[in-house]
Amino acid sequence: MIQLPRFALVVLVGPSGCGKSTFARRHFGAFETVSSDVCRALVAGDPGDQTATAAAFDVLHLIVARRLERRLLTVVDATSVTAESRAPLLAIARQHQVPAIAVVFDVPEELCLRNDAARPDRHVPAEAIRLHRERLARSLPGIHTEGFTAVHLLRGVEAIDAVTVDRTSPLATTLRGGGAGTGSLPGPPGSVDVPVRGGAAGSLSDPGPMPGGT
Ligand SMILES: Nc1ncnc2c1ncn2[C@@H]1O[C@H](COP(=O)(O)OP(=O)(O)OP(=O)(O)O)[C@@H](O)[C@H]1O
Ligand SMILES: [Mg+2]
Repeated sequence: MIQLPRFALVVLVGPSGCGKSTFARRHFGAFETVSSDVCRALVAGDPGDQTATAAAFDVLHLIVARRLERRLLTVVDATSVTAESRAPLLAIARQHQVPAIAVVFDVPEELCLRNDAARPDRHVPAEAIRLHRERLARSLPGIHTEGFTAVHLLRGVEAIDAVTVDRTSPLATTLRGGGAGTGSLPGPPGSVDVPVRGGAAGSLSDPGPMPGGT
């Protein structure tokens, strides 16, 4: 279970095709999720237009800030696989004194590729997915130092599908259950609650090389 306060900024973190938008649709309301693809579509007419990325994130950050001003729980649906891409979100959360919660999707590259291929609407190049996973692996060891109140690591699709979200917690501190996972970062399968203060973060402190990434 992912325990969330009623009011929080939730940052989904994971490569293209890992299931972020599917997860967001399953657990959050349509207007609670701010998606970089939707913002790209709004500014450029095409959710896949990478030339619109900077403008899309201007809009995304503005929407997030305006929602947090209103004390509305907000989910950011973008890959957010680098510390640099998470930093502005954390800054906005800090500005509004809102707990920021990361939900990290660690699924095998093959699954992302398969999911992407099965999508009816758009496709992301395999090289981009590989790069996302590589960037995620590189930034994970330090994620607990970035300023998140909690980091929830979901290893594998079984863990993702087993998770429930409880939005009544006074503090976002725990994540349990999740079942078997097939993620590729070392550590036990399933869901892991990563401490965000006091150093050593279990497997996140040394994710090591990810298969398929060079
Ligand atoms: N938990 C799941 N179980 C079964 N199929 C899934 C699951 N999650 C995602 N999929 C499939 O994978 C496809 C891609 O998932 P989704 O669009 O959620 O990925 P994403 O992480 O949002 O990717 P992007 O970053 O490119 O937007 C979906 O169209 C769906 O068919
Ligand atoms: Mg998506």
